[in-house]
Amino acid sequence: MKLLITGGAGFIGSNFIRYYLKNHPNDQIVNLDKLTYAGNLENLKDIENNSNYKFVKGDICDFDLVNKLVGEVDAIINFAAETHVDRSIIDSGDFVKTNIEGTRTLLDAAKLNGNKRFHHVSTDEVFGSLGPEDKAFNEKTPYDPRSPYSASKAASDHLVRSYYHSFGLPITISNCSNNYGPYQFPEKLIPLFVTNLIEGKKVPVYGDGLNVRDWIHVDDHNRGVDLILHNGKIGETYCLGGASEKTNLEITEFILNEFGQGEEMIEYVKDRAGHDRRYAVDFSKIKKELDWQPRIKFEDGLRQTVEWYKNNQQWWKKIKSGEYKDYYKKQYEER
Ligand code: NAD
Ligand code: TYD
Repeated sequence: MKLLITGGAGFIGSNFIRYYLKNHPNDQIVNLDKLTYAGNLENLKDIENNSNYKFVKGDICDFDLVNKLVGEVDAIINFAAETHVDRSIIDSGDFVKTNIEGTRTLLDAAKLNGNKRFHHVSTDEVFGSLGPEDKAFNEKTPYDPRSPYSASKAASDHLVRSYYHSFGLPITISNCSNNYGPYQFPEKLIPLFVTNLIEGKKVPVYGDGLNVRDWIHVDDHNRGVDLILHNGKIGETYCLGGASEKTNLEITEFILNEFGQGEEMIEYVKDRAGHDRRYAVDFSKIKKELDWQPRIKFEDGLRQTVEWYKNNQQWWKKIKSGEYKDYYKKQYEER
């Protein structure tokens, strides 16, 4: 099988490519990535010379390029997206372009090339925000996105489903909860906090720190995507979660503890606009149908992830220097 992976130079996509080539040594992967601020070929340094792997720099909105690449593969997995909620609040332009228009471009190419198999990687954030007593999201939960990021992902999910109903495109969708693991860009909660502490800086907790996320290790997510690609039912959506609901303060305390640091390293900062209170995912459908459930215990996975950031300072120090820092400084000042 030959796969087109989009966004494979980002956090989840790069971990997926590594996972997939290891577990399917006879398959081939073409990685199409625009290399935005979040795309980094260093994430794939160890496999860049693998004969079953090829990188193409390009935009998923570029129809001619996408059409050519789709024509050469058996299936497409769409990881490419603008992904950071805070950035979407500052400027949603690229979110609409990549997440909506880019997905449409890929869908059209898949349709025009004989209805190619299409898996779309999405998020639990499309379902909105839960109260403390609400039941976890499942595949039947109505969409209620509340940030420009989640709204653009919701739109892309709807488009993907519409190509199944209108054209019989063989699609599947996965809606997964918050991922953590190696190579995550240090703007997201866990890598930002870990790298700040290595640098001796405080960690910025938004609001009261009691927002809840359902954390899953990126390898558990990617094992699910692989299973859905090969064994998922066409036209279906699968919700994936980590069975690890934690408040941001619980995460913060765990990480502080790993560094032998205390609460004095916490800086409470202004809350995110429209900050979703709680996400939680009921993954019983994929458990029942595909025998999938998360395997990596949160505490073990997070400890390993902290170690990874300690041992790979070269990787994130380059990212956190210069322009990146200025961008965030300005952002914090404006909030
Ligand atoms: P990321 O921001 O780390 O990586 C995104 C990648 O997409 C980057 O390599 C970037 O260069 C590329 N990209 C962006 N725009 C592009 C374009 N127009 N054309 C081609 N490539 C482009 O994101 P991630 O955390 O790895 O997320 C991957 C996917 O998983 C996204 O679709 C996201 O919505 C979804 N998801 C993420 C999480 C999470 O917790 N990170 C959870 C559930 C679902
Ligand atoms: P994030 O990693 O941005 O993921 P998402 O918003 O997609 O869930 O944020 C996770 C949680 O951590 C979210 O409730 C916002 C919070 N947060 C902070 O408190 N401080 C920070 O500096 C960041 C980046 C996030």
